[in-house]
Amino acid sequence: MENKIALLGVGLMGSRIAERLANNGFQVSVYNRTISKAKELEKFNITVCEDVKSAVQRSEIIITMLSDYKALNNVLFADTAISYQGKIVIQMSTVAPDQNLLLKKEIEKLGGSFVEAPVLGGITQAKSGELIVMVGSSKAQFEELKGLFSIIGNNVKYIGQTGQAAAIKLSYNQLIATMNTAFCMSLGYVMDKGINLNIFMDILRSSTLYAPAFDKKLDNFVNRDYENTNFSLKLLLKDVNLVVDELEKSRVDCLTLKGVKFLLERGIHFEQGEKDYSALFEMIYPKK
Ligand SMILES: NC(=O)c1ccc[n+]([C@@H]2O[C@H](COP(=O)([O-])OP(=O)(O)OC[C@H]3O[C@@H](n4cnc5c(N)ncnc54)[C@H](OP(=O)(O)O)[C@@H]3O)[C@@H](O)[C@H]2O)c1
Repeated sequence: MENKIALLGVGLMGSRIAERLANNGFQVSVYNRTISKAKELEKFNITVCEDVKSAVQRSEIIITMLSDYKALNNVLFADTAISYQGKIVIQMSTVAPDQNLLLKKEIEKLGGSFVEAPVLGGITQAKSGELIVMVGSSKAQFEELKGLFSIIGNNVKYIGQTGQAAAIKLSYNQLIATMNTAFCMSLGYVMDKGINLNIFMDILRSSTLYAPAFDKKLDNFVNRDYENTNFSLKLLLKDVNLVVDELEKSRVDCLTLKGVKFLLERGIHFEQGEKDYSALFEMIYPKK
């Protein structure tokens, strides 16, 4: 297995994946637009590069964990002197299927190969190597890389060709948005009625309506505490926008999701974008 890996983008997720790989014997180099964030990784024996080109040059495999398609283009292609000849680019950020296809085309033009591998799970799972990794690539690429993926995640699934893993990932993030919205509506209503929340949750947990996702952010909602960002509201809105476009193309009605989009946009308007996405509760049941 290739041992030299570059991680481009060490935000909440990328930093944990870099740490996990370094702790498992890989020679990890990182690049981050805001270099001060990357410097915190030096204590794990990770090399911090000042530019993308040197991170790519030092590595056989390049993992991208950036916000969105625009950031991916900025980082991968702004410097035209970067050669991807013989390199494998593993694109783990959440983007649309067509966006990954465009990135694949560009990387292949520059001599590299491209694999999409979006993940499900948050920063805790990224640090402990318990992400769900969904791979869109050729079967041969999957076989070559599955050892590496098994260090990043404990559930590694081959989905299909490029674009299919991006699509399945978006289908799950749609659920994050709508399920949390549905739960916040019931929670806000029950709180407003002064009903004991333990009773509300006990009944919910014992019923078929229950989903573990409801307990995940319960404390954030009840305490109206959204400061400890695991997944930002602005990135959830980015995903909701992508899913709305995708569902419309597939002729799946997405009126419900457009309602959630509106709530998240309200969150951005009230400067909650950098906060955890659980700040969505404030848009649904604002503090009186
Ligand atoms: N957080 C989660 O639970 C989670 C789970 C699964 C998948 N994801 C997906 O994984 C990706 C990363 O998420 P995250 O939570 O780690 O996000 P994050 O903490 O906000 O990090 C985003 C990264 O993108 C960089 N970036 C943003 N805009 C840029 C630009 N225009 N040019 C260059 N770099 C730019 C940031 O650099 P700076 O540090 O300089 O801002 C940072 O390295 C996203 O696609 C997200 O949807 C997140």
